[in-house]
Amino acid sequence: MCGIVGYIGQKDAFPILINGLKRLEYRGYDSAGVALFNGKINLYKHKGKIKELEEFVTEKNISGSLGIGHTRWATHGEPNDVNAHPHMSMNGIFTLVHNGIIENYAKLKKDLIKQGYTFNSDTDTEILVNLIEFFYTREEKIDAETAVRMALSKVIGAYGIAVICKDEPETLIAARKGSPLVIGIGVNEYFVASDAAPIVEHTNSVVYLNDNDVAIIKKDRFTLKNIENNPVSVTIEQLDLNIGELDKGEFEHFMLKEIFEQPKTIEDTFRGRLQAENSSIVLGGLLEVTPKLINANRILIIGCGTSWHAGLIGEYLIEEYARIPVEVEYASEFRYRKPVINKDDVVLAISQSGETADTLAAVEMAKESGATILGICNVTGSTLSRVTEAGVYTHAGAEIGVASTKAFSAQVTVLTMLALKIAAMKGTIENDEYSSIISELALVPEKIKQILNDNESIKKVAEKYKDSVNALYLGRGYLFPVALEGALKLKEISYIHAEGYAAGEMKHGPIALIDNNLPVVVVAPHDDYYEKILSNIREVKARKGNVITIVTEGDKALKELSDDVIQIPRSHPAVTPLLAVIPLQLLAYHIAVLRGCNVDQPRNLAKSVTVE
Ligand code: G6P
Repeated sequence: MCGIVGYIGQKDAFPILINGLKRLEYRGYDSAGVALFNGKINLYKHKGKIKELEEFVTEKNISGSLGIGHTRWATHGEPNDVNAHPHMSMNGIFTLVHNGIIENYAKLKKDLIKQGYTFNSDTDTEILVNLIEFFYTREEKIDAETAVRMALSKVIGAYGIAVICKDEPETLIAARKGSPLVIGIGVNEYFVASDAAPIVEHTNSVVYLNDNDVAIIKKDRFTLKNIENNPVSVTIEQLDLNIGELDKGEFEHFMLKEIFEQPKTIEDTFRGRLQAENSSIVLGGLLEVTPKLINANRILIIGCGTSWHAGLIGEYLIEEYARIPVEVEYASEFRYRKPVINKDDVVLAISQSGETADTLAAVEMAKESGATILGICNVTGSTLSRVTEAGVYTHAGAEIGVASTKAFSAQVTVLTMLALKIAAMKGTIENDEYSSIISELALVPEKIKQILNDNESIKKVAEKYKDSVNALYLGRGYLFPVALEGALKLKEISYIHAEGYAAGEMKHGPIALIDNNLPVVVVAPHDDYYEKILSNIREVKARKGNVITIVTEGDKALKELSDDVIQIPRSHPAVTPLLAVIPLQLLAYHIAVLRGCNVDQPRNLAKSVTVE
């Protein structure tokens, strides 16, 4: 949520900042801005996307080899030119970009007003930059860094910031608490960014800042300390991000590219872990905590959005095969509702980005209970990967489309392997069943390729329903969370109101919505629930609903009963979610494109929700 970039070196900062902001645009895209130091600080900001900022600065002075930039997702104050970052302090001494929320901004603002400060914007950020200036001008002979540290010590809330000071043309200051920041190390140049995406094209060497770190960066060196002015040791890490992942390639949108990547990304999730030939699963990241997992009293899965849906599938899998009680919770609820967590519990946090504020806060809260805290995460080096005791990377590669697709299937893949692994170690699964699920799991990438071959026919279904106002998604068992995920995909990118429901719950409310305008997407492959879901479909048809079914190939009964049918290959029920979700992703994608929506950057959403 909001993306920050910064550059100090010998090159022109502007192109580096603009390209960096484009890489971060998925984090927020309601306004953008840059500040460039060249004798004085030139500040340009504009409502809208980065492209509009680029047009706005044409023929303006954009020179300078020190600069900061920001792409915004509004928290305080509507998206407009004034509220856009960077923000400059009242006397023009400091300029700052910020990701996060200053919770005590009202009190700080009141204090600053008493000191004669005035404000132009509605943002909490403008208060922080003025607080820095206040300390800088009040104290005698202090440098910019000291003023930044003094101001940060007064702040309650979350921040990732990059700051420049008009009196220090050779210094870029970056600090973090709660919102991620990475420093890229080049040769006589440094980069600062909210994540590695803007950095990877310049250097692979990075330092991930920890909470309370303050980095004082010059062209040729940098120092890391904490807010109290104590030195902090620097750990340089190497990025494993491939620059190709950050381009759309031949695809019209990142989302479509990421849907089509799934056969490969699932192979990547398997790599070194799943060996179908000898029915073996190795989850290296969990080796040390294996005894804790086998003896877990309970597994508490926490996550948000799509990651929470993956967690629900994990619950069904772990309970069915490993026979450990599982609860799945929204991190935003879990962190505040005072749950009972025992030290024999395992808390498993799932997050694509590893930066979702609620998930991280829930992890911190759970740590106090003494439970074992594990993570499933896609972004290497992310905060979640650093605050958990152990975990599994999904290795799905960079996911740029705001609507999560390949990260979801990678999370479900990991959860399936995890459930099977614990089940095998505990002896709660028959050998034949275990081997048969592993064989089916290994075939998933090929079977997804078959579904992707039907893209054009799925698009035809989308054409029929693109003007719908509402949609209902139904599923049972493993496919109930898939129905939730299908509905979420449709609503987030097409703005059609969509609800996912357990099909058995239909009679308790949603059935009242059914008429001949309501598309009902039913995930109904051949499994133990087939007869039950068949009668649900009959109930919808009896009320003139339009039924689109996701069926196992060759299913004649449902073909007759449904208005539209999308086939998926036959598989083991435990593995079917990985197949059934693909047509739902494509259906949502095509409907959104046909409605003229920006599928990669849907309105009001952001890829990483780094604020509460
Ligand atoms: C946002 C994104 C979703 C994502 C959710 C959780 O809402 O738009 O796609 O599922 O955050 O994100 P995480 O990175 O924690 O999986």
